[in-house]
Amino acid sequence: MRTHYNTELNEHNVGEEVTLAGWVNSYRDHGGVIFIDLRDKTGLIQLVCDPADNAEAHKVASQVRDEFVLIAKGKVRMRGEGLENPRLKTGKIEVVVDELVIENRSEPMPFTLGDPNVGEDIRLKYRYLDLRQKEMFDLFKLRSKAAIAARNTLDRLGFLEVETPVLTKSTPEGARDYLVPSRVHPGEFYALPQSPQLFKQLLMVAGFDRYFQIAKCFRDEDLRADRQPEFTQIDVEMSFCTQEDVMQVAEELLESIFSACGYEIETPFPRITWRESMEKYGNDRPDLRFGLELVDVIDLFENCDSPIFAEIAQYKKINRIKALKVPGGDNAFSRKIIKELESFVTKFGAKGLAYIQVKEEGLKGPILKFLSEEAIKTMKERLALEVGDIVFFGAGDRKVVWDYMGRLRVEVARRLGLIDEDRFEFVWVVDFPMFELEEGSLHLKALHHPFTMPRNIDEEDAEAMESIAYDVVLNGIELGGGSIRIHKPEIQKRVFELLGIGEEEAQEKFGFLLDALKFGAPPHGGFAMGFDRIMMLLGKRESIRDVIAFPKTQSATCLLTHAPGPVDEAQLKELGIRIRKQPKIDASE
Ligand code: AMO
Repeated sequence: MRTHYNTELNEHNVGEEVTLAGWVNSYRDHGGVIFIDLRDKTGLIQLVCDPADNAEAHKVASQVRDEFVLIAKGKVRMRGEGLENPRLKTGKIEVVVDELVIENRSEPMPFTLGDPNVGEDIRLKYRYLDLRQKEMFDLFKLRSKAAIAARNTLDRLGFLEVETPVLTKSTPEGARDYLVPSRVHPGEFYALPQSPQLFKQLLMVAGFDRYFQIAKCFRDEDLRADRQPEFTQIDVEMSFCTQEDVMQVAEELLESIFSACGYEIETPFPRITWRESMEKYGNDRPDLRFGLELVDVIDLFENCDSPIFAEIAQYKKINRIKALKVPGGDNAFSRKIIKELESFVTKFGAKGLAYIQVKEEGLKGPILKFLSEEAIKTMKERLALEVGDIVFFGAGDRKVVWDYMGRLRVEVARRLGLIDEDRFEFVWVVDFPMFELEEGSLHLKALHHPFTMPRNIDEEDAEAMESIAYDVVLNGIELGGGSIRIHKPEIQKRVFELLGIGEEEAQEKFGFLLDALKFGAPPHGGFAMGFDRIMMLLGKRESIRDVIAFPKTQSATCLLTHAPGPVDEAQLKELGIRIRKQPKIDASE
């Protein structure tokens, strides 16, 4: 219907007869002459309807309202002197309308497009209107470019795109499954895949050698800004490869995606072991855009005069005492801010927040009285303390201390404005432990998944066993991860034993994979990138909801379609399902 998109036009088209199509972004009646800003996916252009030029078109123009759909025929001309709009790409020109058709009308908008004060709920309810904003469209344009770059790169590297089932059996990634009842087999359920993990391994057994898929995954887990119940992975698997080979493919893939979106990134990415990451940054997804590393000081509290600290310092394997030195923090943080930081860490399990201030006259802080002269001297040296610094301390169970001190590190950086939003700091986290203890029990669970190859399967102490697994982290967000997989049945059997998964259970759950390993499975490994998270970071957004066309809320509902919703009694009957009344669960964190 159109001859041009709006922003294809410029001074060179002056005098040309054009047909444009789009929505009324705004309109103004200036003493008889009506100006319409027409919007299409590329941007805005000004239409002019002057009764002196064309009475009929002007009459139609007088009926237009916001978001009406128009088809306008007219001639391009330069705007009068001083009437240019430098904020518009088409700001030097306008189109004098000869013929105007109102193709469709619109009810008054439920919210103003682009208004930053509009709540997300209403934007999600009318997502199709929200997506009319150029800013939103541009995010999806970027996403499309990134997906195409990913496909092209993987194709160039010899990977084959294969689709794997969505109606399947449980795939173990540690979250709850979404289940789909079977009509044909009453009382039985499919599970939606948490990832294509098992199928991609089967494709390696099949000899496909290099597989990829831009795959929808489903996980019923607690939601937050970087988690959705259904999300997209760029999923990759390859055979006869080492960890290095896989990491190189992952870097090349990210390089091409970022380049397609206008950012040149440097590879190879730096690496850090899981252990170092936990000790220095408190978690396994360190934000390396700023320093503020945590420092171990547990040894300085051994035999100190505080029974609490001394007791903690006795058990170095399971406890930590960590110091976070904030250079200049004593000057920057008022008492009130320190109180706020204290209540921040108590939300994550801290009992309080001890601190030392470095004043001209010396160190100040209640915990100093517990420490020997010697310990204080060592602390000064170890932390390279200078006047104006403040040091925060976390002490207790290592998992809890890592967690809240890691969060405090980021919170302090945020408050001090140390985070450069324009930087991309990638890092590989490697050498993960194979297992961790399940919360509150002596059971081991796999840190990645139970198909990950241990580095040292003969290690006596299962907790000391490492896996050949790696995560790629960008600016404190886990973008993706993967591992070399177990391809030998006897190793898989041993890992199941350690996990307390009996032979029968293993057979029932993953029998098809275990069988496949018996038929000449090649060595293989791979990774999956969270595509939504990549796009969130590339689009400089705070939430992955912004880069998903029709996302769900924090409580896993779709405000547009009202999913999930009740179904007909007849449908339930057909599926052999009776509903038991249950209280609603709050899925947000
Ligand atoms: P993993 O579980 O680490 O690994 O997932 C890979 C990446 O997927 C993204 N991701 C999510 N994104 C949005 N919402 C979610 N709920 C969500 N959950 C995960 C993250 C994460 O890094 N099969 C393995 C990969 C492999 O070993 O090859 C897997 O799924 O960015």
